[in-house]
Amino acid sequence: MSYTPLSTGIHVDSSRRLWAMVTAQSTYAFGVTNDGLLMHLHWGPRLVSLADLPSAILKPERSSQEPALSQATEEYPPFGGLRYGETAAKVTFADGTRELDLRFATAEVTERDGLPALIVTLRDAAYPLTVQLCYKVDVENDLIIRSATFASEANETLRIERAFSAVWHLPRQYAPRTLTTLAGQWLGETRLQQRPLVAGTALIESRRGITGATANPWFAIESTFETTTETYFGALAWSGNWVIRATTDIMGTTAVAGGIHEHDFTWLLQSGESFTTPEFVAGFAQDGLNGARRRLHHYTREQVLPKPQVLQPRPVLYNSWEATFFDVTEEGQRKLAERAARLGVELFVVDDGWFPARVNDHAGLGDWRPDPVKFPHGLKPLSEYVKSLGMQFGLWVEPEMVNADSDLYRAHPDWIYHFPRRPRSEARNQLVLNMARTDVQAYLIEVLDKLVAENGIDFLKWDMNRPISEPGWSDEIERGGEAREIWVRHALGVYAVMDALRASHPDLVIESCSSGGSRADLGILRRTDQIWTSDNTHPEARLFIQEGFSLVFPARVMVAWVTDQGRGLLPVAYRCHVSMLGTLGIGGNLVHWSDAEMDEVANWIAIYKEIRPLVQDGDQYWLLSPHATHGEVAAVEYVTAEEAVVFAFRRADLFGELLPRLRLLKLQPEANYRIEVLGQNDSASYAASGAALMSYGLSLPLKRGPFASCIVRLRKQ
Ligand code: GLA
Repeated sequence: MSYTPLSTGIHVDSSRRLWAMVTAQSTYAFGVTNDGLLMHLHWGPRLVSLADLPSAILKPERSSQEPALSQATEEYPPFGGLRYGETAAKVTFADGTRELDLRFATAEVTERDGLPALIVTLRDAAYPLTVQLCYKVDVENDLIIRSATFASEANETLRIERAFSAVWHLPRQYAPRTLTTLAGQWLGETRLQQRPLVAGTALIESRRGITGATANPWFAIESTFETTTETYFGALAWSGNWVIRATTDIMGTTAVAGGIHEHDFTWLLQSGESFTTPEFVAGFAQDGLNGARRRLHHYTREQVLPKPQVLQPRPVLYNSWEATFFDVTEEGQRKLAERAARLGVELFVVDDGWFPARVNDHAGLGDWRPDPVKFPHGLKPLSEYVKSLGMQFGLWVEPEMVNADSDLYRAHPDWIYHFPRRPRSEARNQLVLNMARTDVQAYLIEVLDKLVAENGIDFLKWDMNRPISEPGWSDEIERGGEAREIWVRHALGVYAVMDALRASHPDLVIESCSSGGSRADLGILRRTDQIWTSDNTHPEARLFIQEGFSLVFPARVMVAWVTDQGRGLLPVAYRCHVSMLGTLGIGGNLVHWSDAEMDEVANWIAIYKEIRPLVQDGDQYWLLSPHATHGEVAAVEYVTAEEAVVFAFRRADLFGELLPRLRLLKLQPEANYRIEVLGQNDSASYAASGAALMSYGLSLPLKRGPFASCIVRLRKQ
């Protein structure tokens, strides 16, 4: 008997009130019970027929302590009734009722953002409140993109106290599961953490008002079925407070819930208004973490990153921070720019220290105009000089911040988050502007717009160096509003300013920075083009940080500089190769670099430009994980239909032993590849078939000694 599998797209079985979203390799399905509850039915390998799915039912209670609803796998379980598992929503109505009772109302198959979409409307059984669940389907990348919209027609205001983006149910199974998350801190972001998923809750979160470095809003859950590693993974597109909880019961049922953190969260919903959650993207892959990585990268490039920038190669940049810190002078920057141009740099970025009073981190934030002492004729002469050297011009800003010692703060002390009778906590001597205020947003749009327009700025590095504290907004309370909304409104305010700036400067590129990688998420990437991965630029640390970062973000987003970290201790090639894994940048004090160093780095930059399309937009496979090898070896392959490039790193060579051959992935077995070691003049090219390279493997041309690295290019003949 032969099957014709369900085609990809969205399928409906109206008689059984059942829906299935079929992607290239997965199926996600739910149905409605007789009582109108929306019940999850399947998420996993692609199904062949809708008939293979059971109808949705509410299973009876197991005991009085295990009521039916507490065991149900509802798509969007609200707080209400006998529910004690993970809940997605909680609302308090004007009459004090603190429960929701959401029942199925309608479902519509449509299109959103160019993707097939299913919109399911749930309606409260007693109150005029609807929750619309949106499921977009990325067929090629096996992803479901979920969000929820609350809308009220009640005459009174209601309080939303939890509004998650999604609850994802993983099927029960026999094999144990491992949860992978990314944890970190300043100078050490996105490091892989793995733990067995046992009964209980694993929680990752940020309560800082920004995405944070403590954890990234991403998860992967893996298990092995026969010979296949099955991976459920997801990423939240949100730059404010967030939480993701993976809760497993004793029977092995796992639900992953996440969205805007309910910590200190309330949103007032007025009649006729709506509130939409951020998107939570999740997928199912049968080729492990590399498969999850590839799917998120494709999705990010195709659906998230701003156009037209995503269609252009990301330029090699120079950033002055580690070279000069606050000691910025026009003369000094000109010298650096000349040296950078000699290297082949395409974008020159002046970091912190260019605005008034900014000689250290105690003053100046908020006054976004050139320091008349350091730049007597403004920034324009420097910008023009940089352009005359053939480079674009970029500038560092930190728009959400003020120092108490700034003209902006002196003029508007009420513009920062504060409680009137409490001290205003400073971190790095900074206070946070209330980005929820429309006057603050308008002011920033005006100031940044002027800065960009007047100085020929092609690129902004948008920093954010401290978490939010004293989240008060007394004016809003006086107006009858709710100050707890600031946690959400801050992120929305940042988005709004960036969106406005991009609308008036469509070619502007923005880099998201937050003390390194503290604001790295798919929400900020809708309006920024790249992310400053970490303030830690030491190549050894970077391999770990970059492996973790790469699980979520494509290489074009991952900015990596060659600095003076490791200079003199690690080979120039090794330092360059680590940074060439992403969007290459240079951040050392070039004035001190010898001619030999300059030439060698210039050579690597030229090589980078040759392989850049492959690195920035090819499929990325970490063949040897530094996490798994404790940093001893690492290897990354970037591959397209035409070619591949492999980077390999070996930290120590204690015993003078050759490494095993490296088996490559995703080459075309029947094709012959010309193999060339880049940057090594003494090595001849040779040929091998894709099949041989994937089964027999590639001998790694690593030189003897510590910190050896190589780049091997393979081109289809
Ligand atoms: C943050 C950034 C750095 C640099 C400094 C400037 O720490 O991560 O790259 O821009 O701010 O103050």
